[in-house]
Amino acid sequence: MAEQPHTIEALFEENRTFPPSADFTSSAIVSSPTVYDEAGADPEGFWERQAERLVWRRRWDQVLDWSGAPFAKWFVGGRLNVTESCLDRHLGDHPDRVAYYWEGEPGDHRVLTYADLHAEVCRLANALAELGVEKGDRVAIYMGMVPELPAAMLACARLGAAHSVVFGGFSAESLADRINDAQAKVLVTCDGSWRAGSVVPLKAMADDALAHTPSITSVLVVRRTGNDVTMVDGRDHWYHDRVDHQHADRPAVECDSEDLLYLLYTSGTTAKPKGIVHTTGGYLTGVSATHRMVFDLHEDQDVYWCTADVGWVTGHSYIVYGPLANGATSVLYEGAPQFPEKDRFWDICERYGVTILYTAPTTIRTFMKWGDQFPGAHDLSALRVIGTVGEPINPEAWMWYRDVIGGGDCPVVDTWWQTETGSQMLAPLPGVTTTKPGSATVPLPGIFADVVDENGGSVPLGGGGYLVLTRPWPSMLRGIYGDDQRFIDTYWRRFSKPEEGRWVYFAGDGAKRDADGYYWLLGRVDDVMNVSGHRISTLEVESALVDNTAVAEAAVVGRLDAQTGQAIAAFVTLKGDRQGDDALIHELREHVALKIGKIARPASIVFTDELPKTRSGKIMRRLLQDISEQRQLGDVTTLANAAVVEEIAERARAARVKAD
Ligand code: PRX
Repeated sequence: MAEQPHTIEALFEENRTFPPSADFTSSAIVSSPTVYDEAGADPEGFWERQAERLVWRRRWDQVLDWSGAPFAKWFVGGRLNVTESCLDRHLGDHPDRVAYYWEGEPGDHRVLTYADLHAEVCRLANALAELGVEKGDRVAIYMGMVPELPAAMLACARLGAAHSVVFGGFSAESLADRINDAQAKVLVTCDGSWRAGSVVPLKAMADDALAHTPSITSVLVVRRTGNDVTMVDGRDHWYHDRVDHQHADRPAVECDSEDLLYLLYTSGTTAKPKGIVHTTGGYLTGVSATHRMVFDLHEDQDVYWCTADVGWVTGHSYIVYGPLANGATSVLYEGAPQFPEKDRFWDICERYGVTILYTAPTTIRTFMKWGDQFPGAHDLSALRVIGTVGEPINPEAWMWYRDVIGGGDCPVVDTWWQTETGSQMLAPLPGVTTTKPGSATVPLPGIFADVVDENGGSVPLGGGGYLVLTRPWPSMLRGIYGDDQRFIDTYWRRFSKPEEGRWVYFAGDGAKRDADGYYWLLGRVDDVMNVSGHRISTLEVESALVDNTAVAEAAVVGRLDAQTGQAIAAFVTLKGDRQGDDALIHELREHVALKIGKIARPASIVFTDELPKTRSGKIMRRLLQDISEQRQLGDVTTLANAAVVEEIAERARAARVKAD
């Protein structure tokens, strides 16, 4: 068993991301407070006005029903199909406006107007219906970044079926687990996808998963990379065979505002990923409103590019639903930033005249390392708003982003949010909110946050604690699929006072607030790591390691890394008299890739005879983190086996020397 979550005090001691105080002025914080004041005075009225911008078949009777807290209902009684807001309504005024400029990694292109996308979604919805997909079913999607991916999500929504997108970098086993938890009926996948010049064999990986997923009756396969694939008669169908001849129209199924729109699995503090539940009306309200506000969108002029993968929530909310509901023109890029050269992103920005760019701090730090000559070779003057998401951004990277990419005069919008929150929660409004390098600034209009201490008391400005959200918001998760208890325990139990009717959402992040009320994110306070903006559970990696026959015990920590934010450091004891060597390190890394996916491979593995444990047998991860980050060791007095720590530190040092 692992040690309990890290204490907030320990995070502050490390002073992970708190910036130097010199770099900003602290006056004129929110220069035009009207929108904040309005939303603060009447949040339900504010969100109601945002919902009115969508297409509804029937208007709601009540904006928010919080009587069943923490299970929220927004826009109660409202009826809609989200695809009518994302597609049909654009056909009247601007059917020829581009929805996606798609660019494949090898350099091929496709342009999809709103009319094209509507037709593709309808054809695909017809094909899925032929395969038996009905309202209320779940469809799994395991694809690369091709236009058929958003089309598949929207085709599900058209039918009132829920999608469960599994990031293409996850392993067969991860895919199978997610399909089985969701009991998905159909899988949509590709033969492969392009990544850094190589083919990721998605269908072959899906085949391994499909051996263990009895709920799947049909598989639809997009031909993208042309690699050999095995097709099972009666179950597997080529996308072009089933979709291309279909009628390019399909009536949208009317849904309730609280019907399931999608499941998206994310890592928590146990080895089992949880299916985050998002519903239709509130979710679309949240993502469309924030996409418009935070990026200052002018949909008839802007070219917007979010570089995330659609397999993560950022892609769901800010490549698919938010931008399409707003009628935006987006760039969709299939591949890696370094292919064929390290200027691919800037080349894309220049060629499409990208005006709004949304990317991750880890990507920015990578570009910083590669050097200014790559962006410098391109005209980036069209850019006017640049955003980040996924992890804390260090002030140095923030300044580089603003100056080198944004030319010194683009507002940088650092957006804090989560799979669970559905849409952005903390972020500046360009032109309204004064920014500070490294701070996600303040809660968006209509969002209520706080920083609290162990007892749930609000920490005065200038102090730090746990980041919480104190009022419900439209795009909030509605639960964990099939596990109401886990939903309550994970997010609500810690700081809520149900007997007083007070429900407080615990995000799992530590934060400090400065004298101006600005939020500075400090990283996770639980056993979740953030590697290149990807959320990975330490327990998930530990159980993948222990699954290898050589391993007796494993402990995993996220150690600070200049490039990826955190890197996965594993400490492993072996069975019997098995000796650890480089070959075994390689084997274990590949084993984790097989069980979870390549993103979860440990950056370092140290073999040790014992792990540091308390007298009650809990592994003290905190000490392993101290060792990994080469810090003075914390308190070792509670250890049952204090001597082991020095030995591990010595081995970790030796491993570092060898790696250098
Ligand atoms: O720790 C926070 C970090 O990412 C976590 C959420 O991860 P995920 O659900 O995968 O969603 C990522 C994209 C929304 C948070 O609990 N995080 C996200 N954005 C920021 C951040 N940390 C600091 N600053 C951010 N802007």
